[in-house]
Amino acid sequence: MKAVLCKAFGPPESLVLEDVPAPEAGPSELLLDVYASAVNFPDVLMIEGKYQSRPPFPFSPGQEVAGVVAAVGEGVTGFSVGDRVFGGTGVGGFAEQITVPAGAMRHMPAGMSFVQASAISTTYGTSYYALKQRAALQPGETLLVLGAAGGVGLAAVELGKAMGARVIAAASSAEKLAAAKAAGADELIDYSDGELKDKVKNLTGGRGADVIYDPVGGELFDQCMRSIAWYGRVLVIGFAAGDIPRVPINLILLKSCQVVGVFYGAWSARFRDEAAENFREILDLYRSGRINPLIGREYPLADYANALRDLSERRAIGKVVVRVRPEPV
Ligand SMILES: NC(=O)c1ccc[n+]([C@@H]2O[C@H](COP(=O)([O-])OP(=O)(O)OC[C@H]3O[C@@H](n4cnc5c(N)ncnc54)[C@H](OP(=O)(O)O)[C@@H]3O)[C@@H](O)[C@H]2O)c1
Repeated sequence: MKAVLCKAFGPPESLVLEDVPAPEAGPSELLLDVYASAVNFPDVLMIEGKYQSRPPFPFSPGQEVAGVVAAVGEGVTGFSVGDRVFGGTGVGGFAEQITVPAGAMRHMPAGMSFVQASAISTTYGTSYYALKQRAALQPGETLLVLGAAGGVGLAAVELGKAMGARVIAAASSAEKLAAAKAAGADELIDYSDGELKDKVKNLTGGRGADVIYDPVGGELFDQCMRSIAWYGRVLVIGFAAGDIPRVPINLILLKSCQVVGVFYGAWSARFRDEAAENFREILDLYRSGRINPLIGREYPLADYANALRDLSERRAIGKVVVRVRPEPV
């Protein structure tokens, strides 16, 4: 079978597409024929050795997949050969087959494509955990989302609306803001001029946002701390801009606000039942039409480098997906 391999840290072009032996399902595992694997910013960081975890070489990027069960390992219940499943894999998705712990997979809802199913685990899982468990977002509160047309950002816009918040989407271009608007954002801020704080103040009558969702970091973070409302919660999601900001703790005192860390992968591994319940709710929102993951672009497996480059070069709108097999008709 074919797999994209990272044999040494480097840019997307340093990866190779090679034939490798097909994996076999061990105890408690499923063997999947992969149909699609969504790209996430951590894939970009991982191949460059900049992510918090470093898998042993060679590894395939791709931390979430959708596919069909090709074999069921010893002791697995609830899955059969032929089932359509999706879920988070950590690594390994950019390959024709993968073995995964059965507990990490879920059955695909009726009517969902493989491409969409591959793109829902990390982004919606992260954003729902952030807004529900970490921010306790309440109906009627104002939610400001940075990087609002990116993977986790667009999911936060949709979920924030579904939870009854007034959503201000902030992004770096008109095209990105149009995608956030289509996903339900109430107000839009273009921060391509580096200005955020005064625009947030203008839209909130000087009060600031109750919850700020920040997957961008860098220089905008300081403005987030100055745009948060009294008793607000600033969610630290990630640092796509590259720099890890410092927190001015005097502002935490002055605003009586909270700066809240979000690490979905670690939480979902520690609190499996709560994470499963969150996902049941996410799928209910999908079935009722209140969320609908936007697939901005699909690439064939052989075009993995461009798929990764869309994220590293700040081009992606919604989710970028590597399609491994054609969608069945
Ligand atoms: N905490 C967690 O559990 C968790 C889980 C998943 C992902 N994350 C993190 O969340 C962040 C976003 O991940 P994602 O998969 O949603 O990525 P993405 O789709 O590429 O979105 C990232 C957004 O960041 C903004 N950005 C600003 N400067 C950028 C730069 N120099 N390069 C690229 N993007 C830049 C872009 O929006 P604008 O152009 O509009 O500014 C872009 O839409 C990453 O830092 C990732 O590690 C965290």
